[in-house]
Amino acid sequence: MSRPRFPGQAVLVTGASRGIGAAVALAFAREGARVALQYAHDGAAARQVHGALPGGGHLTIRADLGRREEATGLVEKARLALGGLNILINNAGIYRTRRFEAYDPLSWRQDWDDLLMVNLTAPAELAFHAASAMIRAGHGGKIINISSRGAFRGEPESPAYGAAKAGLNSLTGSLAVALAPYRISVCALAPGWVETDMAQPYLSGKPGRQRLADVPLGRAARTEEIAAAVLFLASEEAAYASGTILDMNGASYLRT
Ligand SMILES: NC(=O)c1ccc[n+]([C@@H]2O[C@H](COP(=O)([O-])OP(=O)(O)OC[C@H]3O[C@@H](n4cnc5c(N)ncnc54)[C@H](OP(=O)(O)O)[C@@H]3O)[C@@H](O)[C@H]2O)c1
Repeated sequence: MSRPRFPGQAVLVTGASRGIGAAVALAFAREGARVALQYAHDGAAARQVHGALPGGGHLTIRADLGRREEATGLVEKARLALGGLNILINNAGIYRTRRFEAYDPLSWRQDWDDLLMVNLTAPAELAFHAASAMIRAGHGGKIINISSRGAFRGEPESPAYGAAKAGLNSLTGSLAVALAPYRISVCALAPGWVETDMAQPYLSGKPGRQRLADVPLGRAARTEEIAAAVLFLASEEAAYASGTILDMNGASYLRT
């Protein structure tokens, strides 16, 4: 049997109650890590994911990342419970779509406030507190931000989502430089469609089949594929890739 790749490492995964976050939490636990699983609303789902993790020392933490003060406190809660923090996976996110013509001033503002808060401001808050704790501990660390193809391609029916993810990409690069002296690696991963609850409404029926037909690989990514890439970016082998944004979009959008 091969040795675990993350033995005893303390990992905080946001949005771990389902989808990509749940797959990432499972992948880290299989490699010997202790995982703090953050969720916002669905405690039962988070506890189910927790219960399925191999190994020990895992826990669930509730925090609504739509509320700045809950985002601010999350890292310290996880750090105290895990006895340290080596890796932060900023995965939690929300997606809402509406045709431009269907917006009014109030709904436009509401989407910007909500989507920017959960998808950009909260990850920035978590990254700040995680990096500060890693610097104090003096052991380096990894921060992986889950971005999106939409940051590059545009999101005509969710402009706030696209802008938030583009901001997350910029934050990734800036922090990779600022935190390099402390051996803290910062990367992002930009998926196209992934088989999760978030994507499900957009991948069903005829419009869904058309969206998948537009992907050269002809399918959405599986959460396990995204999780495997996250673990690679969080590994020591990828330390020199700090600052990178890894595309996982089935060749559906090329940045050349
Ligand atoms: N699926 C895709 O096609 C796709 C494509 C590109 C990028 N992404 C990105 O990948 C990440 C994960 O997406 P997913 O598809 O796995 O999403 P998902 O299945 O909808 O799961 C979202 C997760 O985020 C949590 N969450 C939602 N609102 C939150 C809030 N206000 N505060 C804290 N946590 C909150 C949810 O917790 P609760 O269950 O407790 O609500 C859940 O654990 C997101 O950042 C998303 O933007 C996804």
